[in-house]
Amino acid sequence: MSSTYEKLQKSLASIRKVTDFKPEIGITLGSGLGGLAEKIDKVCEISYKDIEGFPVSTVSGHDGRFIFGTLSGKRVVVMSGRVHFYEGYRMEEVVTPVRIMGLLGAKTVLLTNAAGGINLDFKPGDLMMITDHISLFVQNPLLGQNADELGPRFPDMSTVYDRRLQEKIRQAAAATGFDIKEGVYVQLTGPSYETPAEIRMLRKIGADAAGMSTVVEAIAANHMGLRVAGISCITNMAAGILDQPLNHEEVKATADMVKEKFEELVMEFIKIIE
Ligand code: HPA
Repeated sequence: MSSTYEKLQKSLASIRKVTDFKPEIGITLGSGLGGLAEKIDKVCEISYKDIEGFPVSTVSGHDGRFIFGTLSGKRVVVMSGRVHFYEGYRMEEVVTPVRIMGLLGAKTVLLTNAAGGINLDFKPGDLMMITDHISLFVQNPLLGQNADELGPRFPDMSTVYDRRLQEKIRQAAAATGFDIKEGVYVQLTGPSYETPAEIRMLRKIGADAAGMSTVVEAIAANHMGLRVAGISCITNMAAGILDQPLNHEEVKATADMVKEKFEELVMEFIKIIE
């Protein structure tokens, strides 16, 4: 057994001591978007600190727990509070929660985040469906010995974000009457925000939104054969676009403003996916 898989099995066993809940869908909530957790008809909740071998998140606005229950008629596990590379964890630890969601039984994961808008057609408060990603600036989470139990050594990444799920997000947006943008998300390590020169470069290489999460989780989920969908909340225009500095308070405030729209869209999406 690969050491990665062995560690995952230990974490899984400590969850299985508490619940035998089998989610269909795993959802990861981004900065300031944790409110969706309140909409769940909750069955059980487990704090990361109670799971053996689990990394514990420390950033403000993230509270670190799995919530199991029903949302829009589907069995879900919500990861409220994610683990970031900038907190000092290894990439393998950063992707542990999403891998656990898969091992618990989820076949689909929805990854959400707060992001800075690089595309000049975007504005703060927009939601962007992720159609593809750029991961050139962060370590690949699959480095090291391959966990063959999870997936192949050289996994294909041609369609990380499942096309059928993308269509469902478009349908959910139409049904709720919300406009949804689409684009390419780029993950950087953070925790410093980008410089204006970096944002100009990222725009030139095809990125529409920048953030500090999601891509590595999408890679790990895709590696193990899960269907992935992603939604970014554009909380601010990226550095240098407006003549003002960036800060985490603004990110949280915008996410808070958009949260009802975000929650409605996600709930409709969860309802209509097969
Ligand atoms: N850059 C990187 N990450 C972010 C941003 C940003 O502008 N906004 C929210 N998360």
